[in-house]
Order: sequence, then C-alpha cells, then structure tokens
Amino acid sequence: MKDIRAKVKYNRLVAQNTYLMALDLGGEALEASPGQFVMLRVGDTSDPLLRRPFSVAGIDQKGLLLILYRVVGKGTALMSQWGPGVKTWALGPLGKGFDVGLGKDTAIIVAGGIGVAPLIFLAHEIDSPVTIFLLGARTKDELIDREILPQKGIELRVSTDDGSAGYHGAVTELLKEALTTAQPEKTAVYACGPEPMLRQVARICLSRNVGCQVSLEAAMACGVGACLGCALKVRKGPKQSYAHVCKDGPVFDGQDIL
Ligand SMILES: Cc1cc2nc3c(=O)[nH]c(=O)nc-3n(C[C@H](O)[C@H](O)[C@H](O)COP(=O)(O)OP(=O)(O)OC[C@H]3O[C@@H](n4cnc5c(N)ncnc54)[C@H](O)[C@@H]3O)c2cc1C
Ligand code: FES
Repeated sequence: MKDIRAKVKYNRLVAQNTYLMALDLGGEALEASPGQFVMLRVGDTSDPLLRRPFSVAGIDQKGLLLILYRVVGKGTALMSQWGPGVKTWALGPLGKGFDVGLGKDTAIIVAGGIGVAPLIFLAHEIDSPVTIFLLGARTKDELIDREILPQKGIELRVSTDDGSAGYHGAVTELLKEALTTAQPEKTAVYACGPEPMLRQVARICLSRNVGCQVSLEAAMACGVGACLGCALKVRKGPKQSYAHVCKDGPVFDGQDIL
C-alpha cells in the first residue's frame, strides 16, 4: 500500500451523473487486483476532510489508474469538476479482491448500477473460458458505454428496471436464466451493486450450489482497518463474527453474508 501523488489525465461523463477518470500515477506502479480499492483525497481543504473509497476500475496500458464514479454528494460533486492536471492523493491498493480463478468453466459477472466499477477490471482479468457479463441499471441513461467493457471475451446481457434497454426487469432475473444451463461446480458468480441485489444474488447462488463472491460497500473513514467504522456481521463457519469491509473485504464469499 502506498500513498501516491496522482494527476488527472481525463475525467469524462460516460453516463448520467457518472464519470470515468484516469489518474496518472507519475511512474508509480499500483499493483492492484480486481475488487481492490483506493482512498482518494477529494479536496485540499478540511471539508470534506475524509478521503473517499473508490474501486479500481482498471489500470490501462499506460499505467493510468481508472476510476468510474457516480456523483452522490459533496466529494463526488467536487471530483466531477476536476479537469486534466488537477492533483490528488490515492492511497492503495486496499482490501481483498476477487478470486479470478473460481469459475473453471463459466464466470457470471452481475453488475448493478455503479457497482459495475470493480467488475470492469475483473472482466479484463478473469481466467474463465466463458464470461457472461450481466449489466443492470435503473434506466438506459445510467448504462455505461459498451466500449468501457473488454471488447473481446465477454458475452454482454443488459437489463433495465424500466425496460428502456435490454431485458425489462431486475438483473437477478438474468442471473437465474444464465444459471439454468450452467454446471454449478464449474461456475462462479461475481457481483457488485446495491445491497438488496447482492442479498438476492447470494440467495440464488446458495440455492443452486454455485460459488459466489460479492463486493460490499460501507461507510469508510480510514480504509485500512484502524477506525472500526466499517464493521459488518458475517458468518464464520457455524458462528457469527464481525469483519471490516475495508480490510477483510470488500469482497466476501456470498455464503458469509448475513
Ligand atoms: C470499497 C468501496 C468501493 C467503492 N467504489 C466506488 C466506485 O468505484 N464508484 C463509485 O461511484 N462509488 C464507489 N463507492 C462509493 C463511494 O465511496 C461513495 O459514493 C462516496 O464516498 C460518496 O462521497 P460523497 O462525498 O460524494 O458523498 P457524501 O457527501 O459522503 O454522501 C452524500 C449522500 O450519498 C450517500 N452515499 C454515500 N455513499 C454512498 C454509496 N456508496 N452509495 C449510495 N449512496 C451513498 C450518503 O448517505 C449521503 O446521503 C465505493 C465505496 C466503497 C466502500
Ligand atoms: S474504514 Fe476504518 S476500519 Fe474500515
């Protein structure tokens, strides 16, 4: 983990309220794996004081760190104003990422809303022979461009809640359909998105004996296990215990989520 001085290379609108930002790390290498994140400084003043967590959405061929983010509050609104040359600090890589070798035959990636961010990186790195990418959004305007996803090696299926693009309904329905032809022991599901969606994904996978990893979000102050702000109750074998989303996650086994 390093705190790297980073400079904005570009920061462009790619969907409604959603930006793709590339950060030049000045020659520093960020040895991140899919599912890991960075804590970004979003201002030079004490407001907002705390850094914000963002998944690594990719590291491109030039070594630029890619962040895909949605504007939801003060910090992300400030970020959306950044142009090329603006400097920030990126602390990372943090947390535990996805196990990219889980799907021996098929990997099914389930993205809900801005939860797509870490899954873009995952789709580039995944080892499985067949990769099905299920991309869900509330409406067409919130869908990211196809060009942001890997150009080869994935089968993309889209859903929107309002039916304005792709399947009309929840992305979890696409998951159920994809699992009808999959061999459970050779398939793995990877998901990131809103909590109710993740709960649903974990349930579907559990009922079909399919391995599943989910990336969770939590309010984070430090990102390194020091403030206890991101504690989450999880299952550990037959018992329940607490885990830190920032250190023990953000990726967890779907079975461990209560
Ligand atoms: C491990 C991890 C990885 C993340 N990766 C990404 C990513 O790749 N892209 C991305 O866009 N976001 C990501 N997030 C969420 C991101 O950190 C928050 O959206 C951001 O901190 C909000 O900062 P803000 O100052 O704009 O909002 P704040 O001013 O802090 O909050 C404004 C409002 O937004 C709500 N809010 C805060 N966080 C979230 C959230 N996560 N989801 C929905 N509403 C929220 C608050 O409750 C509040 O109502 C990630 C979070 C975690 C924990
Ligand atoms: S954010 Fe501080 S312990 Fe996880």
